[in-house]
This record gives sequence, C-alpha cells and structure tokens, in this order.
Amino acid sequence: MTAVAAKTDTLLRVDGIDTYYGDSHILRGLSLEIRRGETVALLGRNGVGKTTTLKSIVGWVPPRNGTISFAGADITRADMMANARRGISLVPEERRIFTNLSVFENIKLAQVTARKAGWSLPQVYDRFPRLKERAANKGDEISGGEKQMLAIARALVQDTQLLLLDEPTEGLAPLIVREVEAIVREIKAQGMTILLVEQNFYSALAVADRCYVIDQGAIQFEGTPDELRGNTEVLSKYLHV
Ligand SMILES: Nc1ncnc2c1ncn2[C@@H]1O[C@H](COP(=O)(O)OP(=O)(O)OP(=O)(O)O)[C@@H](O)[C@H]1O
Ligand SMILES: [Mg+2]
Repeated sequence: MTAVAAKTDTLLRVDGIDTYYGDSHILRGLSLEIRRGETVALLGRNGVGKTTTLKSIVGWVPPRNGTISFAGADITRADMMANARRGISLVPEERRIFTNLSVFENIKLAQVTARKAGWSLPQVYDRFPRLKERAANKGDEISGGEKQMLAIARALVQDTQLLLLDEPTEGLAPLIVREVEAIVREIKAQGMTILLVEQNFYSALAVADRCYVIDQGAIQFEGTPDELRGNTEVLSKYLHV
C-alpha cells in the first residue's frame, strides 16, 4: 500500500461534538477528521478547547452531543480503558509518568499492561538514548524533556494506533524542543497517526500534513500548513501571529 493510498482511510472522525464541564459549554459542534498515517495539528490560543478535544476523544470527558468514530466503530460513549485497548494513546500536558518508579520501570509497566506489543525496549533505547542513560533514575529525578520523552516512549511500547500529543514542547528549552520535534517526525515517518496539539505554531506546522485552528470551542480553519501560513486573517484573528 502506498502512503497516499493509506492516507485516504479515515481513522478518527469527530462529528459535531458538544462537550461540557458541568454547565460550562466548552466544545460547540466541533468536527475534525484524521486519516490513517496523517499528522494533524490542532492549533489555538490558551483556553479555547484544545485539551478538551483530546479529553473528548479518549473518553475522559465524553461529549454530550455529536459522535466520535474510530476505525469505523462508534466510540462516542466509550470509556478511557476501552479506548486505550483500541490503541488510542494520550500523552497529556502533565506528561504523566510514575515519579516513584525508575525510567526503566515506567517503560516496563507500560509494556506489560499493553494489550499488544509496540516498540521493544532496545528500539526505545536506540531512539531515546537519553532514556537509556537515565534508565535507573526515578521519574522525579529526570528533566522536563526527559519526562516528555518517557511519556511518548510509554505510548510507543504499546500498540498505539492514534497518538494524541498535548503540547509536547511546552516549557522545554529550545534545544530539547528540537529533540522532541525530531522524535515526532520520526514516529510519523514510521507511519504513526498523530494528533498534535500545539501553541507553538512553527513547531507544529513543520511536521503536520494538515492543520485545524480552534477558537471558542469550534474549528475555524482547516487546511495544509502552507494554506495556513498564507492566511493572514486566520493567523491574526485566532493565533495572534
Ligand atoms: N475541569 C474543568 N472544569 C471546568 N472548566 C474547565 C475544566 N478544564 C478546562 N476548563 C475550561 O474549559 C476551557 C477550555 O479548556 P482547555 O483546557 O480545553 O483549553 P486549551 O485550549 O487546552 O488551553 P491551554 O492552551 O491553556 O492548554 C477553558 O475555559 C477552561 O477554563
Ligand atoms: Mg490545553
């Protein structure tokens, strides 16, 4: 199968979802689509609903209206466990890892709880030499960049079909940002389907095949990175660039 053929196959379809926190209506008829093998960027300013979109997809905060389908199955009301078993992996902003376990134990735990195997430990250490160096260190002894890499590695040792990354470069030093970007590019090159949430506009557009701009809980723009770069109205109105 060629890459082009693969990318016409829809993996995730979010159709007109409304998501609430109690009475607060956050997502308002939000729709987006990700094809198999695509890297899609979801861009938007602070507090516009990016993380809530990811939480809706994984079943953390299921939508009240609208539908979500994954690989042809309706997952609108599926819970996080069921979606994890389907291969939907969220690497949240907080880069959740076990701070009391070593880097090695964090990876091992993800491996043994996986329904199906993904990357092997040697593959992880080969791609993340920093994690190999830090294998014996506890999760709370490593840097922010290493935590981010560990959180991504934990998703990769599982049979991840859709990787949701919530602001993976946030708060990292420029050199580490470039390392994380290189990792995302490499995971993409290996065929992973990725939804990348970013405030870092340039970082996201460098790797994305397509992008969405969200504002006020709804998609305001959809297009290629070049189309977005050329749309000064969208850039200034919704992204302030
Ligand atoms: N648990 C919650 N309870 C109530 N309101 C919430 C909750 N989490 C987020 N919100 C509100 O929902 C809106 C969207 O938040 P969300 O976290 O999705 O934004 P975001 O685009 O990810 O922002 P950021 O760039 O700051 O991460 C915000 O107004 C936020 O205050
Ligand atoms: Mg967020």
